[in-house]
Amino acid sequence: MKRRIAVLGSTGSIGTQALDVISRHPDLFTAEVLVANSNSSLLISQAIKHDVNTVVIADDTKYDEVFKALDPYGIKVFTGRESIGKLISGSNIDVVLAAMVGFGGLESTLEAIQAGKTIALANKETLVAAGSLVIKMAREHNAAIIPVDSEHSAIFQCLQGERSPVEKIILTASGGPFFSKSIQEIESATIEQALNHPKWCMGPKVTIDSASMMNKGLEMIEAHWLFGVKPSDIEIIIHPQSVVHSMTQFRDGSVTAQLSTPDMRLPIQYALSYPFRVELNTERIDFAKLSKLDFYKPDFDKFPCLTLAYKAIERGGNIPCAMNAANEIAVESFLAGKISFPAIPKIISQVMNLIGHIENPGRDDIFATDTEARIISKQILSNYN
Ligand SMILES: NC(=O)c1ccc[n+]([C@@H]2O[C@H](COP(=O)([O-])OP(=O)(O)OC[C@H]3O[C@@H](n4cnc5c(N)ncnc54)[C@H](OP(=O)(O)O)[C@@H]3O)[C@@H](O)[C@H]2O)c1
Repeated sequence: MKRRIAVLGSTGSIGTQALDVISRHPDLFTAEVLVANSNSSLLISQAIKHDVNTVVIADDTKYDEVFKALDPYGIKVFTGRESIGKLISGSNIDVVLAAMVGFGGLESTLEAIQAGKTIALANKETLVAAGSLVIKMAREHNAAIIPVDSEHSAIFQCLQGERSPVEKIILTASGGPFFSKSIQEIESATIEQALNHPKWCMGPKVTIDSASMMNKGLEMIEAHWLFGVKPSDIEIIIHPQSVVHSMTQFRDGSVTAQLSTPDMRLPIQYALSYPFRVELNTERIDFAKLSKLDFYKPDFDKFPCLTLAYKAIERGGNIPCAMNAANEIAVESFLAGKISFPAIPKIISQVMNLIGHIENPGRDDIFATDTEARIISKQILSNYN
């Protein structure tokens, strides 16, 4: 039986690589539903190439254009948030690849969980903002969550067949473009420098998160929820070669790791084909050429977003949700040239201090916190202009 896949965020970095994986295994996978925000031309060409059943274009001003282009092919076209939930809950979908960027991906992920679908989860903001809710709902609705983030896929792979609890998770980080830069150099970082990731080619938001190392903070929270490991037992370690994608340590001192050349198609494909491994034409590791693997402790003074992420999960409740919202607004403002790079953690920290704490947030509390944190962030930002 082919796995019928809904790709949420098909026009993005993860989405396009997922469609590449899907097209290489037509006997195993078929793309049924594609969802994008506003990139109508790419969505149209993807829909025709992959002969999908339905597409959703979130930006309703693009609906007519997409409809006119796809109607002759018999491909159904929808717009609006509600349509995403209905489509991915349908009986013709087996796996939902959650690859939209940001908090905007939460609602559709919750709907897919409610429908008991298998979720291939790339959208880390979902677990950061609403980890407790997502995990509780996934248990209730028997929805499997398979990680797509390369680090979490590595940990997930290390845990296959393992019956003993994890003593520690070792989350590797490339270090991003500013790993070897001084605090003074980071303070004057330009947008181009921050977008120049040494190892991975990704969407702009996650690339800036990598430069500030907030990405690793978000991933620490994501790992906490996915694997039930305390934040204090999750160690972040810089590994510039990005060959060891993360490690798990057990109570007998044994450490297991997953290694491969950096290529996101591997964790994407594993999430889609799990529990099976299928052929992938990645460059194989040549250990003799590799010769050494380096590991360094992260510098929390240089990358204050790491401290903020540990503080957020320590305070718990709705604070990680507020941190995530403030980060999204701050990154957007940095990319728009409105604030400097060091302003990102400053804004996040202020928002975390101003937001009201809710210990056990429900669904409504999460959405309300996200809205409120965005309003506070914008108020703080207005002082920067
Ligand atoms: N890229 C990576 O290598 C990587 C690795 C690990 C984890 N992740 C995570 O995966 C997620 C996606 O990252 P990415 O790098 O692929 O991002 P991206 O390149 O910016 O793509 C985002 C995708 O989401 C769509 N989208 C955004 N808002 C939407 C909305 N309101 N409704 C419908 N679609 C919407 C975009 O559509 P348009 O193109 O039309 O705007 C696009 O298809 C993020 O959470 C990121 O942290 C990414």
